[in-house]
Amino acid sequence: MNLLVVGGGGREHAIIKKLKENPQVETVYALPGNGGIAADAVCVPEIGAKEIDKIVEFAKTHSIGFAVVAPDDPLALGCVDRLHEAGIPCFGPDAKAARIEASKVFAKNLMKKHGIPTARYEVFDDPARALDYLRGGGVSFPTVIKADGLALGKGVLIPQSLQEAEAAVKSIMEDKAFGDSGNEIVIEEFLTGPEVSVLAFTDGRSIVPMVSSMDHKRSGDGDAGLNTGGMGTVAPNPCYTPEIAEACMETIFLPTLAAMRAEGCPFKGCLYFGLMLTPQGPKVIEYNCRFGDPETQVVLPLLKTDLLTVMQAVENETLGGLDVAWSHGAAACVILASGGYPERYEKGKPIALPRSLPENVTIYHAGDALAKDGILVTSGGRVLGVTAAAPTLKEALRDAYAAAGAVEFDGKYLRTDIGKRALAALEG
Ligand code: AMP
Ligand code: GLY
Repeated sequence: MNLLVVGGGGREHAIIKKLKENPQVETVYALPGNGGIAADAVCVPEIGAKEIDKIVEFAKTHSIGFAVVAPDDPLALGCVDRLHEAGIPCFGPDAKAARIEASKVFAKNLMKKHGIPTARYEVFDDPARALDYLRGGGVSFPTVIKADGLALGKGVLIPQSLQEAEAAVKSIMEDKAFGDSGNEIVIEEFLTGPEVSVLAFTDGRSIVPMVSSMDHKRSGDGDAGLNTGGMGTVAPNPCYTPEIAEACMETIFLPTLAAMRAEGCPFKGCLYFGLMLTPQGPKVIEYNCRFGDPETQVVLPLLKTDLLTVMQAVENETLGGLDVAWSHGAAACVILASGGYPERYEKGKPIALPRSLPENVTIYHAGDALAKDGILVTSGGRVLGVTAAAPTLKEALRDAYAAAGAVEFDGKYLRTDIGKRALAALEG
């Protein structure tokens, strides 16, 4: 069977490598893919992940048996709806269900209406009213201001004072720092507690949570610096105990599925729950309508069941009858970024990979390209994700860092404390 995967980052590389474990898989096409993915799939750099017409046309002319749409943008643009119209089975939510990520206002109102625990909030479409609300004295700081729409993961600001909050409203709603994504904003209560990412397979009725994980979003050690797309991950997340998992299933996961069905947009695909374990219990920080990046790079290596079989069960709405098994070990992913990321950075630096890797280590390619001479060069902020799987988190981190140290490119930047908090939680 030929497969098509839309996207071109480390997450897509992890999905492709896992799909290829199925012996029925012949060719995997990646649209657009990237330099490193080209070793595992036929990349089509001419077709970007948002070019829905071209993606559908490509699928129709390359006898695609199953498609996976991984990034948020094509999902929100209705890529899955269009592939289905063309008769191509695929994994991912339709555009209506993708609103759970594409509109924070939709997600917050869904949670309020259906009693799903989340931060208290107000919605504004008028900057003057938002400023009145902030100045009214009822808001405590820090507070959280979110642009309604997709903003490359950057649409969340956490002002520490009224002044900073006023500047944030002006930047999002008047200066349009995130374009039309900022036509509406959510102002919400600041929550505290450990953060947990839970990705889950769901066919709209059944839900199968994957192994939990922990992202490291800030650029610097000790969670200093700017927010990034994620500088590293570990799985499982030691803060997410079986008792908490059970509570999340009852108060968050099943109610979210029921809410989406009740709103006429059942969710099929991978639903990502960004959770905060607050003193009042687990609450939803955000939903994503897709696999997380770089969470996928630590979660899928621990999946024992064939990924294509799981994805087909989601598409066919037979997930409830499938036994999905996970390895009992742990995984760690260390991101190697271009110096300067998430701000300005240089591209085109040649990458030297280790000649051989231990069997438990995989390098997922996120932001690289093949130069004309066939040499792999950097082409993005996050360049590579080095993942190790091992019986314990300590061993996984040791092996991931050893391999990360053996990769070379000019300006290579990495956090040195991925998993440190998780290890402390395990030991404490
Ligand atoms: P998001 O893009 O929604 O994942 O938000 C980015 C980050 O902002 C999250 O990972 C949290 O660390 C933080 N954040 C978002 N909402 C809140 C909140 N209500 N309280 C505290 N931190 C938050
Ligand atoms: N790692 C966070 C995300 O994928 O949104």
